[in-house]
Amino acid sequence: MKKMTTMNLKNNVSELIGNTDLLKLESVSALTGSNIYVKCEFQNPGGSVKDRAALQIVLDAIESGELKPGMTIVEGTAGNTGIGLALVAKALGFKMLTVMPKGQTPEKERMVALHGAELKLVEPCPFANENHFYHTARRIAEERADYWWANQFENLSNYKAHFENTGPEIWKQTSGDIDAIVSVCGTGGTIAGNSDYLKQQNKDIDVWLVDPEGSGIVNYLKHGEYKAEGGSFTEGIGIMRLVENFKKAQIDHAVTLPDQDLVTISRYVRDYDGLVLGSSSALNVAGCIMAAVNNKQHKNIVTFACDLGERSFSKLYNEEFLREKGIDENHETMETLIQRYKTMSNHVVTV
Ligand SMILES: Cc1ncc(COP(=O)(O)O)c(C=O)c1O
Repeated sequence: MKKMTTMNLKNNVSELIGNTDLLKLESVSALTGSNIYVKCEFQNPGGSVKDRAALQIVLDAIESGELKPGMTIVEGTAGNTGIGLALVAKALGFKMLTVMPKGQTPEKERMVALHGAELKLVEPCPFANENHFYHTARRIAEERADYWWANQFENLSNYKAHFENTGPEIWKQTSGDIDAIVSVCGTGGTIAGNSDYLKQQNKDIDVWLVDPEGSGIVNYLKHGEYKAEGGSFTEGIGIMRLVENFKKAQIDHAVTLPDQDLVTISRYVRDYDGLVLGSSSALNVAGCIMAAVNNKQHKNIVTFACDLGERSFSKLYNEEFLREKGIDENHETMETLIQRYKTMSNHVVTV
């Protein structure tokens, strides 16, 4: 059958990935005096920024001949990459096995299953343990010739997805009038691809990395060692080791911010912009506020709405869960939070 191809007619679900909108958050922009924009990555068909990495990883593996018809893709993931890969796998004719640690939100486990992927849950454990979800996925592919490991942490197709697509989209959408980008980091694909591309257009664009407590990136950037204190209920972000995708990131500033702030910010953005942010997206907006109050010259700041609150419903938006974590939904107002951030410049690491 002849395929119809026009500007708005797609022939495969995977073609819906990317070209997301850029949305100004009027509420926090008004409060900070900087224009804060979120790239609406939740518009991807799998509902997260990780669809981009999933698609590029699969397309490159098909092209190189590593991934052959009939094979099963296997990946260890906190969830969103597993959902993106499940969607891309089905759309392009592969099977998918997602390996996830127990304890991620059931919302994501359900989405993996909904997309028709097989789900293997493993006990959460330190990376050094061979039963870690990363090693489990690798081992399955090593032991079985019909399984192919996506390896999102070390596979640079992940970085490439953002260098070739997300970065250029942001540059075009802002007509190059962009002062700073802010990003969380899991594999580092998002911050690396975008910072590398955007710095090649304008080396003065200020790149901020924002990290949850319990992640070692900020300490690594400051002291060269992955060390961390505390913990976080965020998922898919923060890391305790150096990986290939992160190595390509060009970072100017980095800061660690607590989960309590994500609660304050997500409620405010929900109530005044109508957008229900996921946990990492709320942390991204926190990072934008930090960047704005620390540099009054920043007119336009861009970050990522990596997914929506439906993926963190049972944690970020769950009163009982928050109470158990000692987090108060009415701890402080946004105005107080912003005043506090103004006094926190000594928490910012300049790279
Ligand atoms: C919700 C969410 N935000 C952010 C990220 C981090 O993106 P990256 O792996 O490109 O650093 C992830 C990664 O899985 C994620 O699931």
